[in-house]
Amino acid sequence: MRVETGVFGLDSLLGGGLRKNTVTVILGSTGTGKTIFTLQFLMKGLEKGENGVYVSFDMDEKGVLDTALSLGWEEVKDYIEEERLKVRRFFAENVSYLNNELMSFIMSGSDGNSRIVIDSFTPLVSSLSYEMRNDVNWFFYKLRSLGTTVITLEEPLSGNLDEPSVTIPLFLGDTVLQLKNIGYGEAFNRTLRIIKHRGSWHAEGVFPYRILDGVGIVVEGVDYIEVRREKVDIDSLIRKMGVKVPQDLYKKLKKMCDAGVAGTEEAIKTILRSLK
Ligand SMILES: Nc1ncnc2c1ncn2[C@@H]1O[C@H](COP(=O)(O)OP(=O)(O)OP(=O)(O)O)[C@@H](O)[C@H]1O
Ligand SMILES: [Mg+2]
Repeated sequence: MRVETGVFGLDSLLGGGLRKNTVTVILGSTGTGKTIFTLQFLMKGLEKGENGVYVSFDMDEKGVLDTALSLGWEEVKDYIEEERLKVRRFFAENVSYLNNELMSFIMSGSDGNSRIVIDSFTPLVSSLSYEMRNDVNWFFYKLRSLGTTVITLEEPLSGNLDEPSVTIPLFLGDTVLQLKNIGYGEAFNRTLRIIKHRGSWHAEGVFPYRILDGVGIVVEGVDYIEVRREKVDIDSLIRKMGVKVPQDLYKKLKKMCDAGVAGTEEAIKTILRSLK
């Protein structure tokens, strides 16, 4: 079962969407659209009758509402009134990611099937050291039991990611997406890259995206994926190479062919050659 991101064009690059009960990290420097991404993610769930929890370090309920309204998502007001969307601003000085108040708030709005957002995770872990890896691991473990989570992570403008506060969430997250604003102007100004997507196929490469009024983030990658899908006939390939393939391996290769990901034929040939 996949969780639709709500970001146009992205799900097909993720093999159908996010995996349920996982933690996704959106890495990006300031102004790349991290907050808009998280709102789109929540709106998609709310539209489908799911609940949402929004933890912010920058905005209170009104701020979140204003941002959503500025993008034309009037429904968000009803969701807050109906208490299907819970928004709370925390102050970084008073809270750590192990804080009970934070976890209780997240739990109060989650039913195991909810969408949870922490925007951003950076204030919670700014003084993180490598010894605290286990604590973050525990925190993510707990989040997975409560629903499907998207956290944002601030990428320093210097591009130096070699800090425990960045590397630990990246290593422990299930899916990592990077948003970049290169500033080259239109076509490749903003780009998205899938750094990892545990337990799933995902598209490789960078994909341009736009932020559009009333819509939010739109990723332009779908055509690219369609073109690159390959049809491979496994039986004729095996015949051609004259090898004997054990039944369980055959099943796996067949599955690869059905997925039709670019590069499948070359990969299968390599595997078949190793059987000779
Ligand atoms: N209504 C809109 N229409 C088009 N683009 C918009 C609209 N609102 C915001 N944007 C674009 O989105 C950017 C801000 O997106 P967002 O607030 O999600 O970024 P962020 O990564 O969360 O940044 P921050 O570091 O401030 O948290 C703006 O700089 C602008 O380019
Ligand atoms: Mg933001």
